[in-house]
Amino acid sequence: MSVWRALVFRCFGCLCVAAGFGAAAIAQAQVVALTHVGHVRPLPDGIEVQSGPGVLRVLALRGDVLRFTMSSTAKLPDGGSWAVLPAAREARVKVTPYSSADAVGFDTPDLEVRIARSTMLTTVLDAQGHVLMRDASPVEFYKSDKEGDTGFEVWKVMPRNEHYFGLGDKTAPLDRRGWQFTMWNTDHPYWQRGTDPIYKDIPYFMAFRAGKAYGLYLDNTWRTTFDFGKERRDEYSFGSEGGPLDYYFFYGPTPKKVERDYAWLTGTMPLPPKWTLGYQQSRFSYGTAAKVRAIADHLRQDKIPADAIYMDIDYQVHYRPFTIDEKKFPDFPALVKELAKQDFHLVMITDLHIAYLPKDKSYAPFQTGEAGDHFLHNPDGSLFVGDVWPGAAVFPDFTQQATRKWWGGLYKQFYSYGVGGFWNDMNEPSVFNTATKTAPLDVVGQVKEPGFKTRAITQREMHNIMGLENSRATYDGLLALKPNQRAFVLTRATFAGGQRYAATWTGDNSATWAQLALSTPMLENMGLSGFTMTGDDIGGFLGSPSMDLLTKWFEVGAFNPIFRDHTDKGTHPQEPWAGGPAQEAIRRKYIDTRYRLLPYFYTTVQHASETGIPVMRPLFLDFPKAASDGDPLDLDAPGEFLFGPDLLVAPPRYPDEVQDYTVTLPPAPWYDFWTGEKVTPDAGAAQAGAGNEAKLATVTVHPTLAVLPVYAKGGSVIPMQPLVESTEQTPQGPLELRVYPGPDCHGTLYDDDGISFDYKHGDFLRVDYTCASSPHELTLHIGAQKGTYPAWWKQVRVLVYGWPQPAEHATALLDGNAVQGVQYDAAQHAVQVVIPQNKNGGTLTLRN
Ligand code: GLC
Repeated sequence: MSVWRALVFRCFGCLCVAAGFGAAAIAQAQVVALTHVGHVRPLPDGIEVQSGPGVLRVLALRGDVLRFTMSSTAKLPDGGSWAVLPAAREARVKVTPYSSADAVGFDTPDLEVRIARSTMLTTVLDAQGHVLMRDASPVEFYKSDKEGDTGFEVWKVMPRNEHYFGLGDKTAPLDRRGWQFTMWNTDHPYWQRGTDPIYKDIPYFMAFRAGKAYGLYLDNTWRTTFDFGKERRDEYSFGSEGGPLDYYFFYGPTPKKVERDYAWLTGTMPLPPKWTLGYQQSRFSYGTAAKVRAIADHLRQDKIPADAIYMDIDYQVHYRPFTIDEKKFPDFPALVKELAKQDFHLVMITDLHIAYLPKDKSYAPFQTGEAGDHFLHNPDGSLFVGDVWPGAAVFPDFTQQATRKWWGGLYKQFYSYGVGGFWNDMNEPSVFNTATKTAPLDVVGQVKEPGFKTRAITQREMHNIMGLENSRATYDGLLALKPNQRAFVLTRATFAGGQRYAATWTGDNSATWAQLALSTPMLENMGLSGFTMTGDDIGGFLGSPSMDLLTKWFEVGAFNPIFRDHTDKGTHPQEPWAGGPAQEAIRRKYIDTRYRLLPYFYTTVQHASETGIPVMRPLFLDFPKAASDGDPLDLDAPGEFLFGPDLLVAPPRYPDEVQDYTVTLPPAPWYDFWTGEKVTPDAGAAQAGAGNEAKLATVTVHPTLAVLPVYAKGGSVIPMQPLVESTEQTPQGPLELRVYPGPDCHGTLYDDDGISFDYKHGDFLRVDYTCASSPHELTLHIGAQKGTYPAWWKQVRVLVYGWPQPAEHATALLDGNAVQGVQYDAAQHAVQVVIPQNKNGGTLTLRN
């Protein structure tokens, strides 16, 4: 909140002025607060309430999803949305009106909405009458600036045991409580914990209290702010300096359901090409074709599995996007083909700034862009020109559909060479020679877009969606060029809904232990904010990591959805082999493990593409009831995260820790993923969470450089595959099913061709597994294969963990017939048996 606003004397229900201000300041300092219920208009699907000069409308989109719009005038905002899907915006359900002496509102089967007549304070309750969200004070509108924009602030009651997550990759702890944030996409190299804002802004958060969660998405692209009890101890607030007061409330009660609701509103990520799940190698820059080839060869010679190599800005002529410097890359199409033979996909950077070259008729992106009026303007109608990598540059006006189409067409040539994907960087937008390091606020574009009124739009409103619309233009352009190929776009800046178009990373991090620690909560919150395919620069971008730090970063990064090693110009080598064979061997082991886990990982990614439930998850997402003292479990376990539903990754709170540390385990049996041994919790450590059904356990770990603790959940079937060097290789040998006995034991395997959309027409493969165990018997039921995509395996190796001793006596039956060759694998602490693949499924029984 700005200082002058804090000083405003509030006079609710009318326009009021601040004492002690000059005339201009007084004009600015008008505050309107809606403080009592006036005329009420019940709607079939909600309610409209007038209050003084303003109005509030609450609509029920579903029984559990509400939309609140509010205005300080009689006119409600009615613009389009860049983030919310039209189908969700248009959805409606009938409500039952409510009216009493004290309040008006309505009921849905899931929620009650109450607006207090005497105060206008709004409360949302669940169907049992429990308060979920409640206004703390009346909504305030104010004149936010000289341009006369209307800002607003909404205050909600903040219960002592409520916690807040989301808002994208803010550089704060997992729980946002006690912090304050600004949404303004910013190129901020050297960011540290607490730096705000950085590159992307997602005005969505989840509130979680005593096992129940709701989500709130503020559909406003302007500079918005969120405050979780920093300014007022028992209240949280959100506001904006302009644009619509338009927010969505969606109720869980589980956190996973909230994630699904948010995906219903803003979409899920499309199923990515499988190769993007592989290891990706990058640097600023592999600047010649010879260097790119050498990196590819080195990865293959050292048997480091890898799928992608990135080309940073030095491949271009004078850093001009969509050019190739032929002195450094003499036969670029041949290079792409050679790399493809080695199973590498090239990803090329294509920044949004187009070199300003009015006199050079040979630079088509500028010429065609200018001819089509595709660039942003100054208020006087001249082109806005700012310095970025190419020097003077202009910026596409991505809120025009025609501009996005033009931009998408620029990829025609590169994509025809067989380039795998594209990297949209600097799209906050970053501008080097302005005081704000971005386009000035009065830079203007046009909204020419279905679902919106055609109108001018300034940076105030457009800034936060430049990255979103840039990545959308690239994604749609690639799909138009190759309609049956999944497109891969990596973007630095984005906004809510951006998951529909691009993967992302945390920008220019630094090569420090503290940043490795910070990466986990950033990526977890990014996942909760709809973006599953996220990662950071492994090893850190700025500065050079110690070799131990680089190794640890590889270990953790192997369990991040995007796994890309990237670093700045002039830093020390940071490839997996940096620092010698001993370090390389450790890093290779983790990269290998990621590739061995591909069936499990791809299945989890596919699930995310349908549900919005992220791959990299805070523990409370899967264990919402496991909490001590009313806190979500993660607050007891900083640094820990889930990689999919069944693997718990447990670095210490500080990744450079040398002292023994305690891992918190949610209620389930757990197995050490590396040794297969069942975890014996620390004596006396198992404790009932106060007031919860949960039992948390702890286990003490002695940190070593070579081991990152990973645990498999009892009650899971984890599919794995023989090692490959790239996702393009067909694994040779049996599919491996790791069965970790425990309650509600199940698993799934999903596969398809990894690159086309044929899966949408049935060409996929899905197998569901369930298992049940008693002290001396385990039954694994393998479901019949669904879909037409053929399995790559001919046999299935089943490994059963936690088997009672003496394990050597185990016998097996497949559909009632004895199976030979049951063995005890002492190194894995598992009984194993190999059975033939059968697309109709079958039942395997192991007995002791
Ligand atoms: C920006 C990006 C970084 C990239 C560099 C050069 O700093 O964040 O990843 O290497 O620009 O393109």
